[in-house]
Amino acid sequence: MIIKGATALVTGGNRGLGRAFVEALRGAGCARIYAGARRIDGAAADGVVVPVELDITVPAQVAAAAARCADVNLLINNAGVAGFKPALGAPTMDDARLEIETNYLGTLSMCRAFAPVLKSNGGGTLVNMLSVTSFFNAPMNGSYCASKAAAWSLTKAVRFELRAQGTTVIGVYAGFIDTDMTHGLDGEQRQKVMRRSALRRLAEVEDVANAVEYLLSDKARTSPARC
Ligand SMILES: NC(=O)c1ccc[n+]([C@@H]2O[C@H](COP(=O)([O-])OP(=O)(O)OC[C@H]3O[C@@H](n4cnc5c(N)ncnc54)[C@H](OP(=O)(O)O)[C@@H]3O)[C@@H](O)[C@H]2O)c1
Repeated sequence: MIIKGATALVTGGNRGLGRAFVEALRGAGCARIYAGARRIDGAAADGVVVPVELDITVPAQVAAAAARCADVNLLINNAGVAGFKPALGAPTMDDARLEIETNYLGTLSMCRAFAPVLKSNGGGTLVNMLSVTSFFNAPMNGSYCASKAAAWSLTKAVRFELRAQGTTVIGVYAGFIDTDMTHGLDGEQRQKVMRRSALRRLAEVEDVANAVEYLLSDKARTSPARC
């Protein structure tokens, strides 16, 4: 994948890690970056970044985005939610449903809608923003971890199915990042996370965005230290 000159779509591109992806891609020379957001609030295109109204849980909006962004050859499925609730101890299943609807089914919906778009643009690259919690479960965030595990499995399914059309499928398994999402942790939860992960600080959004930009670059293909 050569980012320079590529046309990208980043879901949840309005804040947090998504906004950092948009800026990293701009810095790396993407020709056009569609920044998906649930509310675009009159945000204007600036020559490179084009705001697109996109709630990944609304099928009509996903279909409209695939029609409008028909030149995409790099899709970054970044949008996600975390309720920070245990699986059984949560008072209701509302957070668990929203996490599955967004992190798993919303991502699946985007993959299905954009697979033909990527194919028609030469194969391209699809990135799913997952989590280290795709691999294990943390009790305070049990239903989120389950949704990210489902999205990890989905990523493998999509990789198999898109191999024939030449689409590269990448999963990104980040640890805790300093965004609004982790600001939702209360003080005690935050301390627990830091202690258990032996972290001195949470990752900055730029750390993750730059790592993904590197993965997408030609440098990663030739480096002996591929991530
Ligand atoms: N922060 C972490 O520690 C961490 C660690 C590993 C993985 N991740 C993953 O990284 C991704 C980005 O998270 P973040 O930390 O940047 O979180 P964030 O600051 O809470 O941002 C979440 C983004 O997702 C968007 N979003 C939520 N539901 C959506 C929907 N139905 N349709 C479209 N957009 C939607 C939000 O849009 P609105 O502005 O409209 O709410 C926002 O732009 C997520 O997939 C998350 O699971 C985060």
